[in-house]
Amino acid sequence: MTQLTLPKNSPMLSKDFIYGVATASFQIEGSADKRLPCIWDTFCATPGKIADNSNGERACEHVIKWREDIALIDSLGVDAYRLSISWPRVITLDGTLNHDGVKFYTDILDELARRNIKAFVTLYHWDLPQHLEDKGGWLNRETAFEFERYVDLISKAFGNKVYSYATLNEPFCSSYLGYEIGVHAPGIKGREFGRKAAHHLLLAHGLAMKVLNKNSPHALNGIVLNFTPCYPVTQSDADLAATAFADDYINQWYMKPVMTGAYPDIIEQLPEAHKPDILPGDMETIAQPLDFLGVNFYTRLHYQASETDYYEEMPHQAPMTDIGWEIYPKALTELLVSLHEKYQLPPVFITENGAAMDDKMINSEVHDQDRIDYYNSHLNAVNDAMEQGVTVSGYFAWSLMDNFEWAEGYSKRFGIVYVDYVTQQRVIKDSGNAYSHLIKNR
Ligand code: NOJ
Repeated sequence: MTQLTLPKNSPMLSKDFIYGVATASFQIEGSADKRLPCIWDTFCATPGKIADNSNGERACEHVIKWREDIALIDSLGVDAYRLSISWPRVITLDGTLNHDGVKFYTDILDELARRNIKAFVTLYHWDLPQHLEDKGGWLNRETAFEFERYVDLISKAFGNKVYSYATLNEPFCSSYLGYEIGVHAPGIKGREFGRKAAHHLLLAHGLAMKVLNKNSPHALNGIVLNFTPCYPVTQSDADLAATAFADDYINQWYMKPVMTGAYPDIIEQLPEAHKPDILPGDMETIAQPLDFLGVNFYTRLHYQASETDYYEEMPHQAPMTDIGWEIYPKALTELLVSLHEKYQLPPVFITENGAAMDDKMINSEVHDQDRIDYYNSHLNAVNDAMEQGVTVSGYFAWSLMDNFEWAEGYSKRFGIVYVDYVTQQRVIKDSGNAYSHLIKNR
């Protein structure tokens, strides 16, 4: 089957359901010399951190080719484009706006509006200005207030050009991968750091929500969280308890405070030195009401009890994508239903879903049937959740085009459009055509 198919009566076949494609600044823009350095520039320059020793200096040359890229987005027939703003491109060292950087994005927003494509803007997709990292980055509480100032300036500059703002993308990755296990920038390792960084990120989110609700009250304002549902290896009490702990530690740690103003109860089990520094009023700030919740989903993980740690994460199982993540669409349905049962959810957008596959471009064609199958099963998994009562308002494919996949460099391709990094040619893959066909034939 080369098409994407949903049940005939699916609400996802309504014109009101928003379909989009997503990217992020550092992963596609290039032109690093026209902005301030960020933590990913530094991380890429550190030997051994990026699988193919690459960096973001050129990426997909989107700063040069943005107009062409938006025409490509339009040709797919999507309703929306999710992009992120590079903080170091729009802010100067003294904290004022960089007008060239701002113009780059306002031109994009104007072009999207001209083509009637809704702009979903993420304000932080991991590219922290390096000069803020030099003052402690997300371990420094002051960074949350720097973020608040940046959001105030940029949301005023954008006026009413933005349909939806997300404060943060995947604070789990910024804090846990960046400051606890160190596989992402800035590459800091230590159990004592992850929760502290997470708290300052969540505080930044809450402060920014207040600013957005003042400056852009008509935009849909929210946050994008990633979820990797946790499954036990066996049904033993010990494995079930370890799995529940893992879920609280990697997933609910971000969701629960945002939705309810409290961290999961496991906070009591952490050593004092590993706990976040919570000041009076912080939890109220973090729990601002949301207009939407962005959910990023790719895979699930298995856990078992550990003698020496809170839990033991098990290797992924087949079938897997090219990045080694298990393909298990049912976890997406179960995730959405469980979030709906646990929390008072605002409308949900699937802000990222997609797969890295081992694509081959032959005669300017990419026959990525494996990716079509992934999209088909996951779109239907969303439909299943909607049938069980979850309100999902939209879905974004990750990604519009192949790009810099963080620690994997350019070796893993997530695009529905192929990028030849030598010529910078873009070629729509079969999955891109299938996605476009679904959207245009609703
Ligand atoms: C999550 C991130 O938001 C995005 O930047 C990344 O490329 C994809 N997942 C795939 O790993």
